[in-house]
Amino acid sequence: METENRHTAQYPVQPVHDPFEILIGEHGECLKYLQRMENAANYIKSNGFSFEAYSQIAETVRFVDTVMRQHDEKEEKYLFSLMDQHVPGAPQVMRNEHRELWIAFRQLLKTVEDIEEGRLHGTSIVELVESAQAVVEHLGEHIAKENEIVFPMAKQMLTKEEYNRLRESMEKLPILVS
Ligand SMILES: [Fe+2]
Repeated sequence: METENRHTAQYPVQPVHDPFEILIGEHGECLKYLQRMENAANYIKSNGFSFEAYSQIAETVRFVDTVMRQHDEKEEKYLFSLMDQHVPGAPQVMRNEHRELWIAFRQLLKTVEDIEEGRLHGTSIVELVESAQAVVEHLGEHIAKENEIVFPMAKQMLTKEEYNRLRESMEKLPILVS
């Protein structure tokens, strides 16, 4: 049976782990966490602090701090480095966005740590809501840009040999989301 994807056509027997599908899958899982965090931040903004809503934020923070950190490293180390040889500007823009996102995330992480360690002060709840909303907005936009612009661009520009190298490198890495 023929497949539309020219990259996978030569591996009909084994299940193929397309690197873009893997990255898009990780984005999809992240978007689910971001949606829960957005709902929780809106709830706290309207109703005041709730432990249940706070827990949703804390779970998203843990996911981003572990899975998305490894995800970003993977993109930079294996994908952006290959793209650099074709269009150095585009991957550099995305690396810069990663840096900015981690700065915004650090603020949210600090607020969550303060709350967990009982260092509450007058503006903690406002900081929690605002820093959670900032991460939801910026990380959501970043993911959309990668899914809709960067990955399609990369698929076009990578040679077959580069694509195979990317796939082989990423296949050796642990699965981050199932
Ligand atoms: Fe990404």
